[in-house]
Amino acid sequence: MALKRILSGMRPTGKLHLGNLHGALQNWVDLQNDGAYECFYFVADWHALTSDYAETGEIADNIIDMVIDWLSAGLDPARSTLFIQSNIKEHAELFLLLTMITPLPWLERNPTYKEMKAELTSKDLSNLGFLGYPVLQAADIIMYKAYGVPVGVDQLPHIELTREIARRFNFLYQEIFPAPEPLMTKIPKLLGIDGRKMSKSYENSIYMSDTGDVLKEKVGAMYTDPQRQRRKDPGRPELCNVFTFHELYTPLEKTSEIAEQCRSAGIGCTDCKKILGAGIQSGMSLIHERQAYYRNHLQEVRDIIADGDTRAAAVARKTMDEVRTAMKISYGL
Ligand code: TRP
Ligand code: SF4
Repeated sequence: MALKRILSGMRPTGKLHLGNLHGALQNWVDLQNDGAYECFYFVADWHALTSDYAETGEIADNIIDMVIDWLSAGLDPARSTLFIQSNIKEHAELFLLLTMITPLPWLERNPTYKEMKAELTSKDLSNLGFLGYPVLQAADIIMYKAYGVPVGVDQLPHIELTREIARRFNFLYQEIFPAPEPLMTKIPKLLGIDGRKMSKSYENSIYMSDTGDVLKEKVGAMYTDPQRQRRKDPGRPELCNVFTFHELYTPLEKTSEIAEQCRSAGIGCTDCKKILGAGIQSGMSLIHERQAYYRNHLQEVRDIIADGDTRAAAVARKTMDEVRTAMKISYGL
């Protein structure tokens, strides 16, 4: 049976945190391991430029740090194609061609665009690249004729737009592109140590590479149920971010016991967090081993990317031949 092709991308934010791991990366690994899919995962470095065009000096290191975390989490280059967007110049060409057939209002009404522009007031985002972001994303996706795109809810408008652009291409020129399906999975709602969304820019993240004292300190600083001020106050585990992490890192039986003891004030938050810290440390130990390995074998990481680039380029070149032919811009001149 033919494998269905999956494609997803991540902007190169550097080392990943547990929110990235449980919100996206673990899902990528699971899809790879499922066996029913041919997976393409890429570093969306041009996407990073749409908002961070002024500070580009760290992108190279960020790419390596992120790919090391991908490999450490279990992405296997023998089964998944891992590549860097900007190494496949066809993405830029397809983006250019798609901009010709994308009506501006489709971009201007995009809710993710409107929200980000309103939120990121520290940056001037009134540039063409930022408005055109979803067109670049559409190019990334349809280049590989992906059947499915694993993404978070925030990306749904972009996938819907991709479907519309693909349909418009097919209508104007030739049926080349399947409309991709968004693949959503239930993800645990993990917050940062200060109770806000876990985010690198909030400096509230627990990183996949945090171990030992750093890890203990961060877990110790985590916000808990705000109603549990004193040791004798009963707590509400269902409202506690520490507990959400227990559900991922502590054995089920122990987790139920903690819930019960929290409600009866039988356990204090300090002890509860000690158990969690130890749980994360042991749950992440294989990942930590792999991180250490790849940090000492950077050439291997570069070779893995080069190999993925080669595989991705072969698909992209073929698609672009079809696109140019369909658009009658393969002049033979
Ligand atoms: N926009 C995505 C994000 O911010 C990253 C991305 C770029 C992507 N191109 C993609 C995701 C193609 C899926 C498919 O998370
Ligand atoms: Fe949260 Fe644990 Fe404290 Fe309960 S005991 S409030 S689950 S940290």
